[in-house]
Amino acid sequence: MTYSETLEEEILKKISQAEDQDSLEEIRIAELGKKGKISLLMKDLSKLSPEDRKEQGSKLNILKKNISNAISSKKNELTNIELEKRLLEEKIDITLPVQVNQSKHGKIHPVSQVLDEISEIFGSLGYKISEGPDIETEHYNFNALNIPEYHPARQMHDTFYLNNDNTEEKHVLRTHTSPVQVRTMEKDKPPFKFISPGRTYRCDSDQTHTPMFHQIEGLVVDEETHLGHLKWTLETFFKSFFELDNIEIQLRPSYFPFTEPSLEVDVLCDRSGSVLKIGEGSDWLEVAGAGMVHPEVLKSSNIDPNKYQGFAFGLGVDRLAQLKYGIPDLRTFFNGDIRWLNHYGFSFLDIPTLSRGLKK
Ligand code: FA5
Repeated sequence: MTYSETLEEEILKKISQAEDQDSLEEIRIAELGKKGKISLLMKDLSKLSPEDRKEQGSKLNILKKNISNAISSKKNELTNIELEKRLLEEKIDITLPVQVNQSKHGKIHPVSQVLDEISEIFGSLGYKISEGPDIETEHYNFNALNIPEYHPARQMHDTFYLNNDNTEEKHVLRTHTSPVQVRTMEKDKPPFKFISPGRTYRCDSDQTHTPMFHQIEGLVVDEETHLGHLKWTLETFFKSFFELDNIEIQLRPSYFPFTEPSLEVDVLCDRSGSVLKIGEGSDWLEVAGAGMVHPEVLKSSNIDPNKYQGFAFGLGVDRLAQLKYGIPDLRTFFNGDIRWLNHYGFSFLDIPTLSRGLKK
């Protein structure tokens, strides 16, 4: 056996025994690197006679090529082994139950939970969802809803007007979700049946009022819609939402420029203790405004009021969350206190569905 054959055998053995990429790289440097064994042998060729140099040179070139090939195929083999090992280590059994570590995953805010619950109920009644912007023009927030400039009803809304507004029309932080009625009706043709959830803003703050709060608007427009449909819808909704059959609702005659007749919806509750209880006591908490859509609003949306009628309602989402989960002060909802959220918040697994139940 020649020297280069013995050397090849020896190096190939080392390569085959390499256990990982690092030791393989060490072998490559020791044999093929600048100061490696084969490179030094190449350098020594200059000391040989021309004939020997030719013969040894070609042998060394073959040796170098064989070693390079062996190293790269060993490298591929090791990469595949490492990948297999990683795949085995990172394998997860998706049939195992989810481990809920609340402190790690955070909590869902009661307002988000209640928004999902309400959407689930109206979804099951065939309502679609339509949304509008938080920054609204005076036109959609007031005029198109039959509240012209200098109308006293504008005072009821404690509006936040936007400063430095260079556009021709004034902008406001929407005071209710009712502007979405007109925005949606303008874009399409009747019949309509949708809810629009979102944030609303008023300069107001006490135990049951906050400057930013949430409403869900509901609108149904068709050729034979009447007040009885509205009453049934509200009763069905409240029974489903509170999961109580004996829920007591009070419909009070009221005034909204965009509905005629108009009414306010109160729910019976007990506010005497530190916890708010529904279906008990003798207090009433106002949770919604509602009524039959005013013909002027239908006209602003290019709908013939002689052919179509509709009903609308605006639910106070935060108030409903307060009532359902016994949270006494609305202002605490938006204090950003993590202890409050840990107490009143929901697990991300508490997804509200009608079949499983809406409560915690
Ligand atoms: C309205 O905002 C009407 N757009 C509702 C409506 C829609 C009437 C469609 C007719 C047809 P109101 O101002 O009453 O109405 O507000 C509706 C509900 O929002 C109230 O019942 C109350 O639950 C809630 N709400 C009002 N102001 C606040 C506030 N500052 N903080 C928390 N909730 C509030």
